[in-house]
Amino acid sequence: MNRSEQLFEQAKKLIPGGVNSPVRAFKSVGGNPVFMQSGRGSKMYDVDNNEYIDYIGSWGPHLFGHNPDFIKSALLEAVDNGTSFGAPTELEVKMAKLISELVPSMEMVRMVNSGTEATMSAVRAARGYTGKEKFIKFEGCYHGHADYFLIKAGSGALTFGVPTSPGVTIGNAVDTLIADYNDIGSIKNLVAANKNQIAAVIIEPVAGNMGVVKMNEGFLKELKEICEEEKIVLIFDEVMTGFRVAKGGAQEILGVKPDLSTFGKIIGGGLPVGAFGGKKEIMEIISPSGPVYQAGTLSGNPLAMSAGYAALTYLKEHPEIYTLLEEKSKYLEDGFAENQKSLGKKFAFNRVGSMMTLFFTEQKVLDFNSAVSSDTALYGKFFNEMLKRGIYLAPAQFEAMFVSTAHTKEDLEKTVKAQYEALKEIV
Ligand SMILES: Cc1ncc(COP(=O)(O)O)c(C=O)c1O
Repeated sequence: MNRSEQLFEQAKKLIPGGVNSPVRAFKSVGGNPVFMQSGRGSKMYDVDNNEYIDYIGSWGPHLFGHNPDFIKSALLEAVDNGTSFGAPTELEVKMAKLISELVPSMEMVRMVNSGTEATMSAVRAARGYTGKEKFIKFEGCYHGHADYFLIKAGSGALTFGVPTSPGVTIGNAVDTLIADYNDIGSIKNLVAANKNQIAAVIIEPVAGNMGVVKMNEGFLKELKEICEEEKIVLIFDEVMTGFRVAKGGAQEILGVKPDLSTFGKIIGGGLPVGAFGGKKEIMEIISPSGPVYQAGTLSGNPLAMSAGYAALTYLKEHPEIYTLLEEKSKYLEDGFAENQKSLGKKFAFNRVGSMMTLFFTEQKVLDFNSAVSSDTALYGKFFNEMLKRGIYLAPAQFEAMFVSTAHTKEDLEKTVKAQYEALKEIV
């Protein structure tokens, strides 16, 4: 038994499934999870001293790779001043200002500790503001693990076959209405059937949790119009796409200002952070300026703020990183396409900036149904072949692969070569 296997044996006795978040398990791809020791740049090192080129980047936060010097030094400086005060700090004001500068729809912002907290608080704000109770989410989108989101959810919920989780009460589920991604007809039907009862529509503007699926422009335009007409708060869940697909998130590339947005991952520079915000008029409903309660002992924590502020400042001052990320990601896309051509395969591949997914289906993936036509058993084989070759991908089909600024040309070449060998082995 190697060290990872030993640790996993112990972990299974103490932690459900041996992991602190289901997507870390290798259950859907077969095998045992690898326990990590350290990370630097594009690489992670496990407890048995194996090196991996990492394409999960802690599931999105590591836009600059592991442990970049500018985040590390910001953190060390913050530690010197104290780890938490439970009273406001200047850094929180600077952070709010920087977020609204980078994402102009964020007129006001509240910091929280995770993406889940951000999305559940945004829906509460929308309900408080509109006085309505129902909300629409899309099948295959994941918005964290609050009860009323765990209905036809994506990511781990989909991978592990429990998109609608036991433990969620009927009372909690009745106000969640489910629409089909990229299908405006499904929205129209729900709106007509629930007239004046829908507080919000929450959507991943580029879906990442059924694998990467782009929103089509016509759909978004109509969705926005319906929300305006029906006084429904449009919430963009940018926990994954925020500061990743562009400096101003997916809303920048789509040219749309949602009413509210949620952030996580990159906004914390690798520490546990989330944020929600948007129109001042709506955000003023939040306590203590308004009656909708929302709170957190560690919200706006100085360590988390210092790492997040360093990350956002860096990307603001170096907008060229998005061109660099595009070039690196395009290199992978082209290399993967070449591999498929050589092997006579036509698996679907979707990419938006530095987020991408290879789906093991030959159908075009444009929505949830085409995404789930993927052969997940084949993905499992592919994942393990890649891992053997030192490439760490998400241990599940319905996830994104993330490229960071730290990935070198050599990493990318090695990845394309490994992909060719892995595909050749399994198809
Ligand atoms: C789009 C989206 N929203 C919300 C969440 C939940 O964030 P967290 O895991 O930080 O609670 C995630 C997590 O992957 C996500 O991808």
